[in-house]
Amino acid sequence: MSITQEFFTNLQSQSQEKLTILDMYLEKWAYILGYSFTSLQRRTPLYYVDLFAGQGQYGNGQPGSPIIALNTLTRVHQNLMQDHDKNPNYNLIAVEKDPNNFIQLSENIQKFKSKVIVKTLNLEAIDALGVIENMVNNSPSLFFVDPFGVKDIPFSMIERISRIQRSDLIINFMYNFVQRFHNFEGVSDTLCELFGTDEFKHVTFDKERELIHLYRKQLQKIGYFTLNYKIKMPGKDRTYFHLIYATKEPRAIIEMKKVFKNMHESIQLDLFEIMERVNYEAEVLQKYNSPITFSQFIARELQSTEFNDSDLRKTLKSMKKKGLVDFDSNKLSDYRTVRNMLLYFKRNNGSFPQL
Ligand SMILES: C[S@@+](CC[C@H](N)C(=O)[O-])C[C@H]1O[C@@H](n2cnc3c(N)ncnc32)[C@H](O)[C@@H]1O
Repeated sequence: MSITQEFFTNLQSQSQEKLTILDMYLEKWAYILGYSFTSLQRRTPLYYVDLFAGQGQYGNGQPGSPIIALNTLTRVHQNLMQDHDKNPNYNLIAVEKDPNNFIQLSENIQKFKSKVIVKTLNLEAIDALGVIENMVNNSPSLFFVDPFGVKDIPFSMIERISRIQRSDLIINFMYNFVQRFHNFEGVSDTLCELFGTDEFKHVTFDKERELIHLYRKQLQKIGYFTLNYKIKMPGKDRTYFHLIYATKEPRAIIEMKKVFKNMHESIQLDLFEIMERVNYEAEVLQKYNSPITFSQFIARELQSTEFNDSDLRKTLKSMKKKGLVDFDSNKLSDYRTVRNMLLYFKRNNGSFPQL
């Protein structure tokens, strides 16, 4: 049985976890953008792009990523119509290079009746990009990048996607492969392309943290805020892959952080109970010497700590009470004003920075 046949016979638990995250995030993405980018005068197109779409369905009847997306976009469309009289312009682009998978995919999509506009492309992801760039043309887009290995997602391709103005990414980063081969000369070129640098050769003792950090750093260099979520091998305490999330929109990272937190909730204690808040507050004071907007602060801390949006708000309130930060509290509860609200963290010498 080929790798493709085997993969699509049965949906494995690690793929289920990945698809649950995609679905939870896509629903939020579709509601928020569908609501705010649709008016009577204008229906800005919104694009979900499935770059490695697969067959659309698994042998055991479970839906694959493009059908999950169609389901979710259709449901959100109906809800926004009914409850808010909105008619969002959702588009799905599904790319699949394997001709057999493509036939299955097309059949599975055709069965679906929906207001979502669908375009399928039987191409290599890299070759489909030209068509996609023309279609998306800086409308908001979410790219799901879910290849089999690592060789089909060179960093140059991710960089190209990043040049689409409002593109978010969810990338399946095959850590299991990377950690096995990062010292192996034979795949050095492939890994150089994957990371867009050869720095992966210099990882030291904490391999997983450093390799994921490096990949995220590369994404941050091209303008993204990032998060990652570890998915383990079934029944083992070993990492299979990481989902890497990248967005340029500070508000969006809050939503993905909630999704990741939800997934963890059953197994994790509230981190804030464990880690001393006081230590964290001291860290924040060290880090921010000049005024920063609330949305920049939240996005940066979400990507560099385990805390969620509400933990960070609690921290700011606690610090304000102690006189460690200054901001206009009235703006905190209104999302329209809070974004650009300035935070002035106290300096070591006791003064507050000026603008
Ligand atoms: C991991 S599977 C995708 C699974 C799908 N996202 C899902 O969740 O149901 C990867 C798919 O990408 C296809 N593929 C592999 N290399 C590709 C490439 N360079 N361009 C486009 N598709 C590719 C494979 O044939 C396979 O169907």
